[in-house]
Order: sequence, then C-alpha cells, then structure tokens
Amino acid sequence: MLHVDRFESAFMQLAVLMLLAFAGAVLIAVFGLGIHLPDVSEPLPPAEVDTTVGFDNPGLRMIHPDWYEAYIVVQAWQFTPSEITVPVGSRVTFFLASKDIIHGFKIEGTNVNIMVIPGQISEVTTTFDKPGTYLFVCHEYCGALHHTMSGTITVVEEPANGG
Ligand code: CUA
Repeated sequence: MLHVDRFESAFMQLAVLMLLAFAGAVLIAVFGLGIHLPDVSEPLPPAEVDTTVGFDNPGLRMIHPDWYEAYIVVQAWQFTPSEITVPVGSRVTFFLASKDIIHGFKIEGTNVNIMVIPGQISEVTTTFDKPGTYLFVCHEYCGALHHTMSGTITVVEEPANGG
C-alpha cells in the first residue's frame, strides 16, 4: 500500500494550489486587466517608411486635448524627431518604424521599453503625469554610434503649442 507522509501530502496540495493561483493571476492579467505585450500595429517595409502617412511627416499630433500621437522615424543613429514637448497629463501613443536595422526605444522613468524592428510599426502608449524631462534611448546595440542615439520628451505644466 502506498504510504504518503502527512506533511508530504500537505506540501503537494499546497504546490498544486499555488500553481492554480499563478495560472489564475496570468488569466486575470490578460483577460481582466488587458495587460499584454506591446502591439505590432502593422507591417511596414523599411523602404516605404518615408512615404507612409504619419512617417512622411514625423512628429507630434494632437488627437484630442491630453491625447497625442507621435510618429518617430528610427535609423542609425537617430530618432526623428529627437525632441518632443507635451503638456503634463498627456497620453501619448508612439508609432515607430526603422529604416534600417533593429533599434530599441526606452523612455526613462516610464513603462515604455520596446523593440523597433524593421518591417513593422512598433506602437506603445504611456501617460506623462509628472512634469520634467524624460530621456529616451536606443537600448539595442546597433553599431558604432549606438550610445549617441537618444532624445528627450519634455513634459510642461502649461499646454504646449499643439504640436
Ligand atoms: Cu539604435 Cu542602438
């Protein structure tokens, strides 16, 4: 007859319960809270970046008060534009497309941290609740001047000039 120690049995049950709790937490995060990986909004070949609406005139657009879209063209070794100003409280959706190789886009002090992979548009949204200057950098090694590839987002108290 199989003998399972009382404590061993209890720990096995505890382990099963924990696994169920973790699986439940993942399901709640995905379906309840809508937490997911950054979106790939659509494919975009590098050769077509310059002629695609949005990227043909990169920069900030106001969609609604407190809601902006920023189109950023990415290439070795620069972001275009590299300086963006928005009023405090703004929600900004960033669309990024690379014209050459893989780059990264990380905004210090925010949850924005995505890859910019040639052939697709990378999309990420964040809200700037505090005024200040936010540095953004390429955090994927992309060659000799990778370390110079950066820009800033300035979050100001009063409304910006509309972008
Ligand atoms: Cu672009 Cu590193």
